[in-house]
Amino acid sequence: MCGIVGYVGKRSAKDFLVEGLKRLEYRGYDSAGIAVMQEVKGTQKIYTVRAVGKVINLENKLSEHMSGCIGIAHTRWATHGKPSEKNAHPHIDCKGTVAVVHNGIIENYLELREMLVKKGHTFRSETDTEVIAHLIEEEMSASDKTENIFEEAFVRTLKQLRGAYGIVALSVHDPEMVLVARKSSPLVLGIGNGEMFIASDVSAMIGDVKRIVYLDDGEIALVRKESYTVKTLANRMKEKEELVLEWDKSVAEKGGFAHFMQKEIFDQSRSFADALRGRLILEDGMARLGGLRTVEKRLRSINRIIIVSCGTSYHSALVGEYMLEEYAGIQTEVEMASEFRYRKPLLDKKTVVIAISQSGETADTLAAIREAKEKGALTLGIVNVVGSTIARETDAGIYCHAGPEISVASTKAFTSQLAILALLTLYVGRQRGLSLVMGKRIAKELLAIPKHIETVLKQTEAIKKLAKKYGRQPHYMYLGRKYNFPNALEGALKIKEIGYVPAQGYPTGEMKHGPIALIDSSVVSLMIIPKDSVYEKNMSGMEEILARGGKIIAIATVGDTAIQKRTKDVIFIPKTIEMLTPLLAVIPLQLFAYFVAVERGYDIDKPRNLAKSVTVE
Ligand code: AGP
Repeated sequence: MCGIVGYVGKRSAKDFLVEGLKRLEYRGYDSAGIAVMQEVKGTQKIYTVRAVGKVINLENKLSEHMSGCIGIAHTRWATHGKPSEKNAHPHIDCKGTVAVVHNGIIENYLELREMLVKKGHTFRSETDTEVIAHLIEEEMSASDKTENIFEEAFVRTLKQLRGAYGIVALSVHDPEMVLVARKSSPLVLGIGNGEMFIASDVSAMIGDVKRIVYLDDGEIALVRKESYTVKTLANRMKEKEELVLEWDKSVAEKGGFAHFMQKEIFDQSRSFADALRGRLILEDGMARLGGLRTVEKRLRSINRIIIVSCGTSYHSALVGEYMLEEYAGIQTEVEMASEFRYRKPLLDKKTVVIAISQSGETADTLAAIREAKEKGALTLGIVNVVGSTIARETDAGIYCHAGPEISVASTKAFTSQLAILALLTLYVGRQRGLSLVMGKRIAKELLAIPKHIETVLKQTEAIKKLAKKYGRQPHYMYLGRKYNFPNALEGALKIKEIGYVPAQGYPTGEMKHGPIALIDSSVVSLMIIPKDSVYEKNMSGMEEILARGGKIIAIATVGDTAIQKRTKDVIFIPKTIEMLTPLLAVIPLQLFAYFVAVERGYDIDKPRNLAKSVTVE
């Protein structure tokens, strides 16, 4: 989960590298570093600067003399070796002729390190990454060739590594080229005009390029300022598709909001509408999903859906389970990807395994998909980042079109995923007996959601007041039933992630089986109680909590006066069909967590210990 950037071009590399690291800081930020190559009195030298903490600390250490036009940089989320300056990347070899940045884990680094120490190499850090720099140095010194010495040493090095890597390296032995290699950790090339960009994800290069190329596992790229070549480790040339990068710079900036999370919460009316755009056939109550065209026939014969995902994407999957079973009449199971991949799942050709992932790079979800493909299941992706690994490795899929989600805490990706799941429910349901009337009802309600989201967002000040009133609680309980049970999990996750406060999400009906023992006057329970098929049950659940002195913040349907008689802390959501209530009920939970974290003074977009894309296992 580290951030990598590289630059080869006509401008000072430092400018893009620092700006790119700042855009990737959400991927990890315990330390950062940069290496720039430049000619000094006729000799190529690599200048390296590192700093603990955030990128701004690195920026403050850089001198204006760092003027080279080729460089690499890295912001770290530590896996081996504590966050420190000496463990920060880039790492260099003994002679300072090679610099390397790396995202991933080299599983055999200890044996490689021992071998290299025996050959006389001196290590400066505790990291697994440093072995890569010394291995390249060793391979170059053992070579009797003069041509392509750096590239060939790089390939021989990669063949000795076990584990996951995204590597970017430069060397004085080929001072106009950067080498890139990918195995499980994402890397993308940005094609500029006389300059080339490299990054862990596109958000680092938004506004700099319009054409991008994603590397696949087992590929290396030789990048020069005017050109790039992609090869396999077996030295076979690879033709790569150049994708258009549609996002522009404004999208990567905060646009006047205090934090990316706040911006993304307020972007949900637009992002939800974009998820639906061109995909609803209102008069037929159907969904048009072009991304499934190639597998349409196979989808007609499936009789079981398994959804694999993590975190917030797991919660949206749980909502999807209710939708698909109730309205598409198909057996649906949801599995945490980190568990699914170690089970012996029973899959067959009539099973479709769907991966939901905002980043499209989550290692556990990717591993689950690979396992499903191994077992012959059809695989689909519901992914936000175009061209990401999960999007490319699944048989087909549906993009969320939520735009870049920068904040670690996922918000608009969640509601966009629900939009896609509702479309998928229509798509599958109308082939399996869902009536035209119901299909049209769902389609009509979906089209009204963006407006309803705006209505909920108008209560931001009321939610902010509740966060001030209840912002210092020792812990929180989140409760919901049926479609809103996953929202209880999601609300609890949000406040854990950015408020660092214990919170539990439970089905309301589960309280009497133990958790209600926690209730007393110190506990605030956020209860989702829309006017739906389990409203009365939820009201009873609320009474059980009130009877034990618990405090209640209720998310209720506009016009529900009964609930106000029982608690004055109510946030109202507009009426919609039950299956779509989670889309509206989640917004007060997102904002409550946001304002509690602001109240507690934490870093909203880059919460401690977390990273936006969990690309290691
Ligand atoms: C959600 O707020 C978290 N950032 C995290 O749980 C995230 O949802 C999870 O890591 C899955 O990420 P993905 O959707 O990119 O696969």
